[in-house]
Amino acid sequence: MAKITFDGIEVEVEDGTTILQAARKIGGDVVPPAMCFYTPLKGSGGKCRVCLVKVTQGSARDPRPMPKLVASCITPVQDGMVVENTTNEDVLNARKGIVEMLLINHPLDCPICDQAGECDLQNLSYEHGVSATRYEEPRRTFNKIDLGPYIQLHMTRCILCYRCVYTADQITEKRVHGVLGRGDAAEIGTYIENVIDNDFSGNVIDVCPVGALTDKTWRFKNRVWFTKPLNAHRDCPTCSGKVTLWSRGDAVLRVTARKDEYAEVEEFICNTCRFDKKEVSDWTIEGPRNIDRGSVISANHYELPVINVPIVPNLPKSTVKKMPTE
Ligand code: SF4
Ligand code: FES
Repeated sequence: MAKITFDGIEVEVEDGTTILQAARKIGGDVVPPAMCFYTPLKGSGGKCRVCLVKVTQGSARDPRPMPKLVASCITPVQDGMVVENTTNEDVLNARKGIVEMLLINHPLDCPICDQAGECDLQNLSYEHGVSATRYEEPRRTFNKIDLGPYIQLHMTRCILCYRCVYTADQITEKRVHGVLGRGDAAEIGTYIENVIDNDFSGNVIDVCPVGALTDKTWRFKNRVWFTKPLNAHRDCPTCSGKVTLWSRGDAVLRVTARKDEYAEVEEFICNTCRFDKKEVSDWTIEGPRNIDRGSVISANHYELPVINVPIVPNLPKSTVKKMPTE
């Protein structure tokens, strides 16, 4: 076991744990943001640099500080390590710079983007971004690529986090897309026009931290903050069948995998559950889904989980919990 101090808080974790996971064990506001790391995906992390932290003491044995800021998602802890995140001005300044860099080519089209309201980059920009850009060059443009009937790619929004590539590699039988080109020319593509069709291909939509990959069956149907999330399940021969339904009135507008507080998928789901089962009768409704208080869906709701869900007629009152008062 290794004991580390993170933003002044001591935490003990297993050897080999990364600094980011140690911080997540503490939880709350001290946890560094992550745009490319994704716990279920092997090899993820180390691409976006938003999780940078300062190691002011390397370990109990060798207390020298690490000379540069390090990516917390890929740096393992050492016993006696001291790390600063929210308490270090250099880290906060660096993060501001990284957000500015990520936004250089990312269009500010949140008002028409389906990811708005649940976009990691949008949240990150609110917390660490600046209101104006210093960039005056033209932004990158791309030829439109068709990924098939279910997935819409907006390459201009992509931050090249590689999550969708790892997902296709690790949970589907064949990957037909990847990052083509390098440096400024790098882009997500299929090389020869190819559709991403595989039983689990829809999961690339869930792992995308921005609106680069969106669900064609849900696009422009509604804003996420007008919908009610419900936990539901069905007997599915291909996946666990445990999903979140996003409904408005009696209509199921979207089906996604369930995500945890770090927006990471708990269990990947198949395309049949995601794209073909849009009737309430297809599902056994478990009840409203607890949505993190930081989510836009929680705005103006003083009770959790979200209440008054019309398609669950006899929801027991006991499932409605009072929010802690501030
Ligand atoms: S499309 Fe989305 S998930 Fe894939 S690399 Fe780009 S930002 Fe990441
Ligand atoms: S989350 Fe650590 S580098 Fe992207």
